[in-house]
Amino acid sequence: MSSNSLNAVLVFLILSGNRVGLAVLNAPRNVRLTSMNMNLVLRWDSPEDNTSGILYTTEYKTSVAMYHVGCVNISTLECDFSSLNIPLSLYGRYTGRVCARRGMDISPWVESNNITMDNDSIIGSPNVVLFSNGATIEIAIKDPAFAVSELRDVYSSATYNITYWKDGQNEKAISIINVLQNRVVLNKLDPWTKYCVKVQINAEGNSKVSKPSSTVCESTTTETKSQWVPAVVTFFIMTLTATLVGIAVVYRKMISHLLCPQDALPSPLLATSNSSHDWDMQISPNPEEMYNSVRVIAVQ
Ligand SMILES: *[C@@H]1O[C@H](CO)[C@@H](O)[C@H](O)[C@H]1NC(C)=O
Repeated sequence: MSSNSLNAVLVFLILSGNRVGLAVLNAPRNVRLTSMNMNLVLRWDSPEDNTSGILYTTEYKTSVAMYHVGCVNISTLECDFSSLNIPLSLYGRYTGRVCARRGMDISPWVESNNITMDNDSIIGSPNVVLFSNGATIEIAIKDPAFAVSELRDVYSSATYNITYWKDGQNEKAISIINVLQNRVVLNKLDPWTKYCVKVQINAEGNSKVSKPSSTVCESTTTETKSQWVPAVVTFFIMTLTATLVGIAVVYRKMISHLLCPQDALPSPLLATSNSSHDWDMQISPNPEEMYNSVRVIAVQ
């Protein structure tokens, strides 16, 4: 018997099974195993238009092992194996399968395609933030989060492809490829110009480049803005503070007397009070302390 006629007999048996009362449900359709950012998700379509009461059970296996139970009796049309606390291998070759049941009716298992996680997982878009400083723009890139492990652990030699262009001049886009750093400064840009940037991850070991980041744009300002303005302001404030402290130390006694003139007055009340005695001690000039203070200021 040829395999074609054997198939025909099997199909006949399955179809006639329904008529003679055997409990057979149509199989889920369009079963596919997918991976995005190192997750592992089995998806399928309902076997029938009438989906009420249908529950699905899924299983998964690597190429070297038997099937293991995944999701059981779920009503959704997908099962995320990577969310089930299964120890998934980053380099494993996985296959999934699903069967449907409604009451006592059970469908045959339907097997999916197989995928190798590191090679076939679709890498999502990186997150890109721009910081403009004068006529430069700094690009900060963040890798997408992985369901299992992290991008740099799976693809140690992953690089970025950065494309940038003046807003409205996409046809003159410039590409920098194989960038290793996740912070890059674009120099020598035109001042007061809006630039747009898009980044893709190129992971060696994966069959495709990542999904592109969304396009982000930022305007440069003028070239003269740089570090020296805040530096001069800081220096000025520090100098002023040091001068004021120096003056305060040198003229401490004079200032104290100006602020608290009653202290200088001979007063029997004050003289007998303990607190006033302490106060007197504090403001009395201590030559050594004063010398130290002045020396510290001078060093500054
Ligand atoms: C799934 O549903 C079937 C039929 O209703 C039931 O026999 C089985 O125990 C259920 N399994 C789990 C794990 O709930």
